[in-house]
Parts: sequence; C-alpha cells; structure tokens
Amino acid sequence: SQKTIIAPSVLSADFSRLGEEVETICQAGADWIHLDVMDGHFVPNITFGPPVIKAIRNRTDKVFDCHLMIAPADPFLGAFADAGCDIITVHAEATTHLDRSLQAIRDLGCKAGVSLNPSTPETVIEYVLDRLDLILLMTVNPGFGGQAFIPSVVEKVARVRAMIGPRPILIEIDGGVTPETAPLVARAGADVLVAGSAVFRGGPEAYAGNIGALRAAA
Ligand code: DX5
Ligand code: ZN
Repeated sequence: SQKTIIAPSVLSADFSRLGEEVETICQAGADWIHLDVMDGHFVPNITFGPPVIKAIRNRTDKVFDCHLMIAPADPFLGAFADAGCDIITVHAEATTHLDRSLQAIRDLGCKAGVSLNPSTPETVIEYVLDRLDLILLMTVNPGFGGQAFIPSVVEKVARVRAMIGPRPILIEIDGGVTPETAPLVARAGADVLVAGSAVFRGGPEAYAGNIGALRAAA
C-alpha cells in the first residue's frame, strides 16, 4: 500500500560508488536506507561498519536503518549511533542480554529494533515489547542478498502483529522481498519492506520503477 515503508538495502548497491547510489535511490523514492552490517562471525559474510556509514550520512536526510548482524553488538552500539544511524537493530540470537542492549540503544538516542532469524520463535521478544520500536523478521537466513523468500515466516508476521497489539512498533520484513512476495507479508501486517536485489536490479534507470512496483504490490 502507499503507506508501506520501502527500505532499499545498499548490500546490493555498487560499493565503488556508494555515495552516489544512496543519492540515486533516495531520488528514486526510497523511504529509508537499510544498512546490512555483517561480521563474518554471526553470519558468514563481512560488509561494512561505522566509518562507511558515516561517509554516506551526508548524502541524504532519510532514515538510516541499521541491521546489525554482529556478535557481540553491545561494544559497537555507540559507534553506530555516532555514525548517524537512526534505528539500530540487533539480532536476538546474537545478544545475551537483549533487554540491556535495547535499553542501551534508546539511551544513545536511537530507535531500538530486534531481529529474528527465520527459525527463531517470536516468544523471545515477549518481555521486551515496551523497549522496542521495530521488529525485523528475517525471511531468509541472514548473510547474503538474492536468496529465496522463506514462506513459513508469513505466519510469524501475523503472530507478531497480534502480540504487539496497540503498541507503536513497526514490523519490518527482510529477505527475498519482490513484487511477488511483498503482498504476502503486507497482508499479514508488515509496515516496512527491505529489498536489495529487487530494487537494485537493472541499474540506476530501473530504481524508480523497481521501488514503485514494490509499493504497488504491497
Ligand atoms: C540479508 C540482509 C538483507 C538482504 C536483502 O542478510 O539482511 O537485507 O540484503 O537482500 P534481498 O532483498 O536481495 O534478499
Ligand atoms: Zn538486512
């Protein structure tokens, strides 16, 4: 729908021209910029960290939505806040003291998110709902762009929607989001759609059309 937030993941951008890519994707209609931070330890891939985020921060005023796939996360939260992240999301599976990590993110002045892998039950967030601004449900196993959407997570989206009730918490979906899969999660209650390959495929001339197709499908 029109109100669905589209958050392109720069994981699928041309890293040699990252600043330009961020500007182009914002002009093409991106609502947020999704930043996939990987450590080669929690996930089997390595991407970028605070210095790169800081370098692209002046290219746009859009929300920087930082998805930390790192363990531990706590020692680095301050650096990501300083780099200009607006939302910082940690993985429940990578965090021993989830309640403490979420408090720390809000204490830094950022919105706090938690992410769950496809196999992680939503019950792990039952007691931290009041500390959350966003719940990121992975629809692929994290680590790489371009993987196939795991349909069993659609049921989890609906369960999380019921669990959060009237709380102002956004549900974000990440992994394998395309115009074909977007309606499944939008119908189940998703507010934010992350997309890497479905946005960046076809190069800069295709970005606006790709984002428009996702928005129309959702
Ligand atoms: C996966 C990342 C995703 C990924 C999405 O670990 O968290 O954000 O880049 O890429 P697509 O949309 O290609 O599945
Ligand atoms: Zn992500």
